[in-house]
Amino acid sequence: MLKKKILALGLATIMSLGILAGCGAKKEQANKEDKHLTIYCGLMQDHMIKAVNEFEKETGIKVDAVRMSSGEILGRINAEKENPKASVWFGGPADGFVQAKENGLLEKYESPNAKDIPAGYKDADGYWTGIYVGYLGFASNQALLKERGVDIPTSWKDLLKPEFKGQVVMANPGSSGTAYTALATIIQLMGEEKGLEYMKALNGQMKTYTKSGTAPGRMAGQGECMVGITFLHDAIKYKEEGMKDIVISAPSEGTGYEIGAVAMIKNGPDKEAAKKFIDWCLTKDAQEIGQKAGSYQFLTNPNAQPPKQAESIKDTKLIDYDFKWAGENRSKLVEKWNKAIK
Ligand code: G6P
Repeated sequence: MLKKKILALGLATIMSLGILAGCGAKKEQANKEDKHLTIYCGLMQDHMIKAVNEFEKETGIKVDAVRMSSGEILGRINAEKENPKASVWFGGPADGFVQAKENGLLEKYESPNAKDIPAGYKDADGYWTGIYVGYLGFASNQALLKERGVDIPTSWKDLLKPEFKGQVVMANPGSSGTAYTALATIIQLMGEEKGLEYMKALNGQMKTYTKSGTAPGRMAGQGECMVGITFLHDAIKYKEEGMKDIVISAPSEGTGYEIGAVAMIKNGPDKEAAKKFIDWCLTKDAQEIGQKAGSYQFLTNPNAQPPKQAESIKDTKLIDYDFKWAGENRSKLVEKWNKAIK
């Protein structure tokens, strides 16, 4: 009897030790996973690196970050949906996030810090949260304009003037969130039929279409074209970095804007680390990192200090840009645009 009792006690001890050991192993595994994170990032490279370094320093989580344009990120997370490699989509206009949500590529995550972000800057269902805001406009090369006696463009209509033939650069709306913002802005301003007609006419003025949305401003700064259609904060960055010929203007008809967002990718690995990253992105300190890397977007956390470099564009005339409509119609509009410019 006693022997049996001892045996049973021994077995129970071994079993509970086993369970404990199992728990320990699991915990260790979870901690290990928590120490690593892969993100796809729509921000400029230098901004991305600074943000990632700061997050790594604060949390000890090692981050692998890849910079891509919005359309590329969408394509990548769609291609990887059965076996996602990344856990967070960090930066780039919300239109792409709206489409990703529609296509079932995002995971709902309502960060406790999202309470600080105004409702207009986040998804009502908690799939993405805005971290910055950027206004669309023109970056022109003042020296080239002067040389040819041409006025700075101040309207969408101006871009169709004969003097700008072969002198306008924009990115491809299929690859670039910036260029898609331009396409969706034009359609919202003019209606679909007139808007596509305008894009066709604008196509006749183009020097080239770039892959990323920041390239047109750089090309204007380098004197490779007269006008780049781009986010104005990117043009300010190039100017600050030494491209002194850049002159910034915005269309008088009104212009579109982006809400740069962050979201969790559905079924991605390292979920706890992903949540920590998203929580962190919404804080005042994390949002203020951009301006230290020359990224001058406005910020969505009301406690964060907006960059003083963006002061000059704060009164830009904006349209009432419909992000839901723009995101839900993204594929369809890009296809129509492709047909229109053929
Ligand atoms: C830059 C801007 C961001 C923008 C992004 C879009 O990084 O600073 O504000 O969200 O471009 O990039 P894309 O190449 O997709 O137009």
